[in-house]
Amino acid sequence: MSRIFVMTNHKGGIGKSTSATNVAFGLTQVLRQIDAPKQRVLLIDTDSQGHASLVTTGRATYGRDESLYTVLMAERQEAASVMLDCITVSHWDDNLHVLPASPLLEGAERELIGVPGAPYRLANPLQQIIHNYAAVVIDTRPSFSLMTETALLAATDALIPIEPRYLESVGLQSVINKINDIREGWRHQALQVNGIIVTKMDKRVRGHVELLQSLQEHQVLGQLIRGVIPVNEAVAYAHHAHLSVFEYDARCAASQAYAELVGELVKQMFAKAGA
Ligand SMILES: Nc1ncnc2c1ncn2[C@@H]1O[C@H](COP(=O)(O)OP(=O)(O)O)[C@@H](O)[C@H]1O
Ligand SMILES: [Mg+2]
Repeated sequence: MSRIFVMTNHKGGIGKSTSATNVAFGLTQVLRQIDAPKQRVLLIDTDSQGHASLVTTGRATYGRDESLYTVLMAERQEAASVMLDCITVSHWDDNLHVLPASPLLEGAERELIGVPGAPYRLANPLQQIIHNYAAVVIDTRPSFSLMTETALLAATDALIPIEPRYLESVGLQSVINKINDIREGWRHQALQVNGIIVTKMDKRVRGHVELLQSLQEHQVLGQLIRGVIPVNEAVAYAHHAHLSVFEYDARCAASQAYAELVGELVKQMFAKAGA
């Protein structure tokens, strides 16, 4: 089964979109290097702000007929083919495909209230087209909204980006609870908390170092740390240029940290596949 990673945290500005886009791109690079049987990766943007769509496709706004919104509103029998029609190829790499967000997603939650099976409107068509992809990466909006539930119900592996600050780490437990809620409450057993990505880590800040250390020493959470991404201005420059951080500067600290994270995820993908 292909892995469907979801970057989730109800806080904004903590590196969800940065992680989703760079992990998705990084996966295409490694899958090509190892000559994997499937090499395409699908990035799904469920945030109406569309940051992930913008940086990976160069386009800010997608409309009624060309985005995730279209898939959510489609007749169920047609949703999978509508999804294929809406997927576009990123200028980052031919193997990186993008199902873009739309500002219309903002209203989609209201439109879907009371519609039977609404939370499965992403999961179901995705299952029908997933054979085309080695992996899927879903970016979410900063809230526990219906849209985020829809993303979690489509996913197998939740990755939780957090900044190394006290309040972030307190919020971490509520994100984990939410994911467990989706698994148990909605009986979506395939969903697991894959791990935590510590983002914007600044070793010069004592509070950051202390928080990372206490996370590492924590009996449960310590095992869940999948990556530590340093604060690095190359990330912001890359965003402005609509480039992946790897393309912007392959040797910068953030690229190296994302490469390590991607390597870890690929290792997991093949370990499970072969098990
Ligand atoms: N490792 C990093 N170093 C420096 N800036 C970062 C880093 N990761 C993200 N940022 C910046 O932080 C801001 C928020 O990141 P973003 O990925 O959009 O967060 P979210 O999707 O959680 O709202 C962006 O301006 C981005 O450029
Ligand atoms: Mg975002």
